[in-house]
Amino acid sequence: MHHRTLLSLLALVAPSHGQTGYTTVPLFAYEHETSQITLDDIEANRAVGYADAPPDPAVTVECKAFPGTPEWPSDAEWARLNASLGGVLLKPAPAGAACYSSRPEYDASRCAAVLSSQALTRGFLDDPLAVGTPWTSGDPCPPALKPAGECSQGGLPVYVVNATSVKHVQMAVNFARNKNIRFVVRNTGHDFVGRSTGAGALSLWTHHLKDFDVIPKYVSGPASGPAVHAGAGLQAWEVHEAMAKHNITLVAPTFATVGAFGGYLAGGGHSSLISYHGLASDQVLAINLVTPDGSFTSADPVMNPDLFFALRGGGANPFGVITSVVVKAHPPLNLSSTVLAISNLDTGTDLFWKAMAVYFRFGRSTVDARGTDRTYITPYSNSTVLNFTTTIDFPGLSPQAASSLLAPLEASLRALGINITFQYPTVSRWADNVIGEGAALRDQRFASRLIPRATYDDDAKFAGVMSAIRTVVEEGGYPVHGTHMAPTLRVAGYPGADSAANPAFREAVMHLVVYDSAPSSTSPGVTATADHAARSRLSGYVDYLRNATVGSGSYVNEADVLEPDWQRSFYGANYETLLQHKTFRDPWDLFWAPGAVGSEAWTVRAAGGLPTQNGRLCRTAV
Ligand SMILES: Cc1cc2nc3c(=O)[nH]c(=O)nc-3n(C[C@H](O)[C@H](O)[C@H](O)COP(=O)(O)OP(=O)(O)OC[C@H]3O[C@@H](n4cnc5c(N)ncnc54)[C@H](O)[C@@H]3O)c2cc1C
Ligand SMILES: *[C@@H]1O[C@H](CO)[C@@H](O)[C@H](O)[C@H]1NC(C)=O
Ligand SMILES: *[C@@H]1O[C@H](CO)[C@@H](O)[C@H](O)[C@H]1NC(C)=O
Ligand SMILES: *[C@@H]1O[C@H](CO)[C@@H](O)[C@H](O)[C@H]1NC(C)=O
Ligand SMILES: *[C@@H]1O[C@H](CO)[C@@H](O)[C@H](O)[C@H]1NC(C)=O
Ligand SMILES: *[C@@H]1O[C@H](CO)[C@@H](O)[C@H](O)[C@H]1NC(C)=O
Ligand SMILES: *[C@@H]1O[C@H](CO)[C@@H](O)[C@H](O)[C@H]1NC(C)=O
Ligand SMILES: *[C@@H]1O[C@H](CO)[C@@H](O)[C@H](O)[C@H]1NC(C)=O
Ligand SMILES: *[C@@H]1O[C@H](CO)[C@@H](O)[C@H](O)[C@H]1NC(C)=O
Repeated sequence: MHHRTLLSLLALVAPSHGQTGYTTVPLFAYEHETSQITLDDIEANRAVGYADAPPDPAVTVECKAFPGTPEWPSDAEWARLNASLGGVLLKPAPAGAACYSSRPEYDASRCAAVLSSQALTRGFLDDPLAVGTPWTSGDPCPPALKPAGECSQGGLPVYVVNATSVKHVQMAVNFARNKNIRFVVRNTGHDFVGRSTGAGALSLWTHHLKDFDVIPKYVSGPASGPAVHAGAGLQAWEVHEAMAKHNITLVAPTFATVGAFGGYLAGGGHSSLISYHGLASDQVLAINLVTPDGSFTSADPVMNPDLFFALRGGGANPFGVITSVVVKAHPPLNLSSTVLAISNLDTGTDLFWKAMAVYFRFGRSTVDARGTDRTYITPYSNSTVLNFTTTIDFPGLSPQAASSLLAPLEASLRALGINITFQYPTVSRWADNVIGEGAALRDQRFASRLIPRATYDDDAKFAGVMSAIRTVVEEGGYPVHGTHMAPTLRVAGYPGADSAANPAFREAVMHLVVYDSAPSSTSPGVTATADHAARSRLSGYVDYLRNATVGSGSYVNEADVLEPDWQRSFYGANYETLLQHKTFRDPWDLFWAPGAVGSEAWTVRAAGGLPTQNGRLCRTAV
């Protein structure tokens, strides 16, 4: 039997390229998703019309249109777009503009509010432009009580569509494609490498797509059970609240403000439930989206299987704008959690690293019991004293069971003769597990590595990984954050297999992140040369980890923007297939982001050759 009824509507304008010839409205569609662009809309403004044909291969455009170039639409054209959109087009100034007396937005009290809201609140999330990692935009307008320099738009988009309906999304997609404008999708702006910002761009903002519905019984292939239909703009704290209200478990980030169904889910998505229910992308049963040709469609195991494959782990960016998802809803779940810490241990001896080897090797037992942890090894700035803390979570285990599972670990650590702090496990509901209030803007650079189980199972290889970590921390001076996890296909369940999730995830026993907080060229007095040097220094140290885990990969959502051989590292053996889907779905190269499938064809011409989004997007020189 077919898994669900599809309401097939004849398309008003046949979407042209690679489509089935009609637009379908999925059964699980919100009201705003059933109202799409009409013939009247297109008659009133041809610029919002669907693509009539794939691009003419004889005509190659070197760059995307840019403000100030003749190609850039006139104010009148933007005003017509705004009219088509019913007035939701924004032309926002950076929030920091309130601090610059040269700007019309100047307002000292507003400036003070911006400064405090960026410290640690949910404040910046309602800003249409702000990015969590300011260097990615070139930080063109830093708020300060007495700012030096001028405030400009830099690598922040010029226009933003504040979408509350599929029609808005379609109009934004069609207009950007028809006018050769750089197109950006932004949800929360939490991305670490600038995938949700871009100079001279039209940005589609999904933040206000907040719908949420429980589907008591959803049937998909061999599976049937409760599910949730959720808008792409929901954030972790909203999803956890909904879990508590509806007495269900959903896979969602723990950190309060990360988007649960945007880039997080599309890139894989890990949480404390990863060894219990798999990746966030493993939860997906159907995805509603607007594809690059402007049509609204649904992807599931039966419809548009190429998109269903790609959007579960292959990154949202290249394939369309997700408007809502159907994800599995599991029964309510408790976690037993404990904190273990080793403080201020001198690196002069090997004791700290002996303890780390004991702790990390135990990670196999943690994930085999379907648990996870969050470890932090923090060197002091002088790198002579080290701190270690970890939170270990066991979903579905009682505190007693968790305690006996951890007893051998505690005994081994104590046998080393070191002082450890080890809490007796406490129980809490997953629904209540929300960390933080909001993300502070922070100029960190990231790099990461998925550590395969095979390296843990081999004494020599395991010693190699531990020695690489030690070099990164002691010699490099970088803090290291590890998460033991095992999102195997077994825990993922249906329809986890045949997804684009990085195959390295399935083999992994740990995801290891290395941070660099050295100031970037957007900070006063730091040159592009120094910025490049800091990046290659970080990458040079991460090479120790890469070399100790040859053939593994890196998690695309928490990665080095300059990851070597990134196609292999982020997407593994799926890359060629993903690139074919990308070329087929988006022959216009409308969707682009650094490190995304197909992104090698275009380059941002940024000042100083830095990997920021502060420059015009042009074809990569061959
Ligand atoms: C404080 C903090 C904690 C984090 N914790 C975790 C964690 O626990 N687990 C984990 O796996 N990751 C975590 N991350 C990393 C997180 O997965 C990435 O930052 C991710 O990019 C966030 O996705 P977003 O949609 O919220 O952000 P955005 O920056 O808005 O978007 C990220 C990317 O997804 C694209 N995108 C977003 N929405 C859509 C959509 N609807 N359709 C198409 N494309 C879309 C954007 O274009 C962009 O490329 C954390 C990040 C931060 C800053
Ligand atoms: C779009 O129209 C609305 C309502 O008319 C207006 O408030 C807004 O400023 C316009 N946006 C732009 C970019 O002009
Ligand atoms: C975006 O739209 C939402 C929903 O209509 C509205 O509440 C919000 O104020 C808008 N944001 C901006 C910056 O205009
Ligand atoms: C929550 O769900 C569980 C199992 O799914 C059930 O046993 C329990 O009674 C429910 N609690 C409430 C308050 O509905
Ligand atoms: C080391 O750990 C102690 C207690 O666990 C904490 O108070 C201190 O801030 C930590 N230091 C660093 C540099 O992380
Ligand atoms: C390193 O820093 C720590 C914390 O600031 C301090 O206690 C210690 O004495 C320092 N060690 C050296 C060798 O400077
Ligand atoms: C452990 O802590 C005690 C008291 O806090 C201290 O005397 C002892 O030297 C510590 N041991 C080690 C190995 O650090
Ligand atoms: C989960 O823990 C809460 C207390 O935090 C308790 O009331 C509830 O019964 C537990 N539920 C399960 C399924 O263990
Ligand atoms: C990593 O391996 C490459 C290739 O074998 C080698 O050139 C490089 O020096 C190694 N780097 C580190 C840090 O071990």
